[in-house]
Amino acid sequence: MKLAVLKEKHALEKRVAASPDAVQKYKALGFDVTVEAGAGQGASFSDEAYRAGGATIAPDAAAALAGAGLVLKVTRPDAAEIAKLPAGAALIAILSPAAARDDLPLYATQKVDALAMDLMPRITRAQSMDVLSSQSNLAGYRAVIDAAAAFGRAFPMMMTAAGTVPPARVMVMGAGVAGLQAIATARRLGAIVSATDVRPVAKEQVESLGASFVMVESEELKQAETAGGYAKEMSDDYKRRQADLIAETIKKQDIVITTALIPGRPAPRLVTDAMLRTMKPGSVIVDLAAEAGGNVEGTVTGKTVTCHGVTVLGNAHITSSIAVDASNLYARNLLNFVTLLWDKDSRTLKLDAADDIIKAVLLTRNGAVVHPSFASAAA
Ligand SMILES: NC(=O)c1ccc[n+]([C@@H]2O[C@H](COP(=O)([O-])OP(=O)(O)OC[C@H]3O[C@@H](n4cnc5c(N)ncnc54)[C@H](O)[C@@H]3O)[C@@H](O)[C@H]2O)c1
Repeated sequence: MKLAVLKEKHALEKRVAASPDAVQKYKALGFDVTVEAGAGQGASFSDEAYRAGGATIAPDAAAALAGAGLVLKVTRPDAAEIAKLPAGAALIAILSPAAARDDLPLYATQKVDALAMDLMPRITRAQSMDVLSSQSNLAGYRAVIDAAAAFGRAFPMMMTAAGTVPPARVMVMGAGVAGLQAIATARRLGAIVSATDVRPVAKEQVESLGASFVMVESEELKQAETAGGYAKEMSDDYKRRQADLIAETIKKQDIVITTALIPGRPAPRLVTDAMLRTMKPGSVIVDLAAEAGGNVEGTVTGKTVTCHGVTVLGNAHITSSIAVDASNLYARNLLNFVTLLWDKDSRTLKLDAADDIIKAVLLTRNGAVVHPSFASAAA
């Protein structure tokens, strides 16, 4: 089977869906691998390195796709790209189906079996295929590095002959995968760190990293987490009490990293303009939820803005700032997933709808939208 690795089209997307190392492993499984020329450039993987791994380099996407049975990408293809996918091929990428519902009938019409890596269930067996975790972890790290670079002061306390430099105070809002890595990174840099979340289980995880946990106590918290481990939207009363707590805490912070997300909903607004006014000039906020609407009032996606003396980074494509590691981990997530699908004997992909993992990620099959969350909407 021919496996095609496409170059990402978005100018700010530097990641690639397969590393030269992954290519070697796909070859060992029995795939013929073709990589679009320049696909790995943003992640410092040369065409030569892919060739050395056993891939053929195709001059453009059309040549890479010709006759392919499996297509790998990082982000979802646009309508023009979907129209060029070969009929009968499987497509594996972060397809963002909730935000891009209109793509599903296009995959079906094109007779492409589309598999959304971002729907990977949070179960033990799927951990090595969990792209949201591998990418969020790096985003949390990078958010702190970006904040430190934009901050006119140091993170660690320094006692020097010329005087003492106080440690920075960092607050992390949302202690999921990205938030926990942001806490760990800020602690390594020597900051005093606090964090908040609506899931009570986060308390122990935050404290085990040496940060303090700040949270509104409420009976409602018992139901704040879904069976899948995600947060739910909170009541208006809870939101008011949380806003009071954040307003009180945020004035004392130098750096705020916000990562709060609710699946299928806009990101919760946690920091208002009024709160920004109370922060010290020169403080820095990194809003990792920018692409989902932002946790901070005034965030501009993909831009750095100054609001009342506070620098607000509306980071988009943050994993592209760490594209080598992001691509290596993403490539391994995909390789693990393809290994699950691959039947070595028949040299075909087995999309077993009885498997919990495949059921969770398979959007379209044989020309129809089959995913339970999207099938009726598409009909
Ligand atoms: N395979 C696995 O078992 C597995 C893999 C990855 C993650 N997880 C778990 O899944 C959960 C979700 O992780 P994630 O990082 O993908 O979450 P996410 O990206 O959906 O959200 C980020 C964080 O924001 C928090 N949040 C949402 N609304 C908030 C609000 N109003 N105020 C404050 N915080 C708010 C969430 O609780 C979450 O911790 C975590 O418990 C994580 O440990 C499990």
